[in-house]
Amino acid sequence: MTSPEIIICADSAALNAEAARRFASLASEAVAARGRFTVALSGGSTPRSLYQLLATPEWRENLPWSAIHVFWGDERHVAPDHADSNYRMASEALLAHVPIPTENIHRMRGEVADAGLAATEYEEELRRVFELKNEEWPRFDLILLGLGNDGHTASLFPETEALAEHSRQVVSQWVEKLATVRLTLTYPVINHAASVIFLVSGGDKAETLRTILETDAPITQFPAKGIQPIDGKLYWLIDQAAAARLTSK
Ligand code: 6PG
Repeated sequence: MTSPEIIICADSAALNAEAARRFASLASEAVAARGRFTVALSGGSTPRSLYQLLATPEWRENLPWSAIHVFWGDERHVAPDHADSNYRMASEALLAHVPIPTENIHRMRGEVADAGLAATEYEEELRRVFELKNEEWPRFDLILLGLGNDGHTASLFPETEALAEHSRQVVSQWVEKLATVRLTLTYPVINHAASVIFLVSGGDKAETLRTILETDAPITQFPAKGIQPIDGKLYWLIDQAAAARLTSK
């Protein structure tokens, strides 16, 4: 694994602009090389403003939406119109405002009562879209990730079973601290991506970020440390506030 590239931006606006530039560059490269761009979106609040930026004419009109396939890194166990839905957030901020074909939007079905079935369904969707054979892993062109204050990413939470999952592509799991079920891509899927970009903004993430980037804290307690692309690139896009505790900035 190549070492991660850390890009420190002045503020969240600069971080979003840098992320949009990288999104567009990776999309252009992927479409030129393979005829499409496969990206897994992050949920939470940080990426909302990036998605809104990508929906502005300056970016919207320069992206190859008909060749972009959107997936999610994780989803909550809720309906797609629920306030907590990662799909709803991305749809309201971006997808409803760009000419992406409906069939290119690959939603995790958080509304399915049996979350294990929804996870299996999503694995089948990955196999179908990525045309996987047998034990192959999907290779996303880009996976966007956020960072929780507890060191989680996607829905890979500290001390949870999903951290030990190395054969499934998508799992559902009970997250005790949230008292809810989550759906998430597993480490192998994320670590097979060509590019992984963390977006981290705000001083409340500074100590967690320092722990992850500058200590040998255990992955079981800081799952974001387990994001180590095997044959891909890892980028940490962080703003000054989130970088405040880094010694190597
Ligand atoms: C989710 C995300 C999760 C998120 C972090 C950071 O479903 O909530 O996938 O991993 O990226 O919790 O969230 P914020 O961006 O809101 O701080």
